[in-house]
Amino acid sequence: MGKDKLMRFEAIKGFDNVTEFRYKGENKIPIWSEHFGNSDPIVLELGCGKGEYTVGLAKRYPQKNFIGADLKGNRIYIGARDAIQNKLGNVHFLRTRIDFITECFTPNSIDEIWLTFSDPQPKKPRKRLSSRIFIERYSRFLKPNGIVHVKTDSDLLFEFTVEQIEEFKYPLIFKSWDIYKEMHQLPQLLQDDLLIKTHYEKLFSKKGATIKYCQFSLPESL
Ligand SMILES: C[S@@+](CC[C@H](N)C(=O)[O-])C[C@H]1O[C@@H](n2cnc3c(N)ncnc32)[C@H](O)[C@@H]1O
Repeated sequence: MGKDKLMRFEAIKGFDNVTEFRYKGENKIPIWSEHFGNSDPIVLELGCGKGEYTVGLAKRYPQKNFIGADLKGNRIYIGARDAIQNKLGNVHFLRTRIDFITECFTPNSIDEIWLTFSDPQPKKPRKRLSSRIFIERYSRFLKPNGIVHVKTDSDLLFEFTVEQIEEFKYPLIFKSWDIYKEMHQLPQLLQDDLLIKTHYEKLFSKKGATIKYCQFSLPESL
């Protein structure tokens, strides 16, 4: 491991806004409203990388709390440091495998989930973060009619997600195969949210990918 990566791994251990969840069954589930010291809505970004959405949305919505989750501590470091430097008390990061995500939240504790440029997992559909397996996990802690946002460059992941929405009849709220072309059709607040650009969005856009987005809700019982 490089020197920089090692330094970041060590640094996040001392950050108050980062928690590490290691293995299944080892952790005590936090009461996040107590952690944030308020009962404001909580928005979760899964596979947050450097946390551009977690931090970007937290700046835009001080009346909400934001949690970014990713396995890679050296990426989380960037977002966590940014939140500290900007004195954002409404931001927290989890270093964990998303496979254990149900260990991190009590039922009905999360209002919205963002999946930002998730790995398309071409050979392992079950590992896609919008697969039924993951959606069932999210439904254990998402509030009834809670929202899931998916923003991606990947045709494969987007097509798959849209098929899942149709197959399992999740209520669809918006869908766009090219957000920058169809931006004007979306509500203003959402347009501004979608203008936040992550590290991977910048990489894929440079290669000419169109950016896709959909938003759906999860009913009380799946
Ligand atoms: C393609 S990157 C996107 C990162 C960021 N959202 C962006 O747009 O720049 C996918 C991220 O998901 C994380 N990831 C993928 N599978 C994961 C899992 N099972 N548990 C935790 N993190 C995972 C990776 O570490 C990586 O940071």
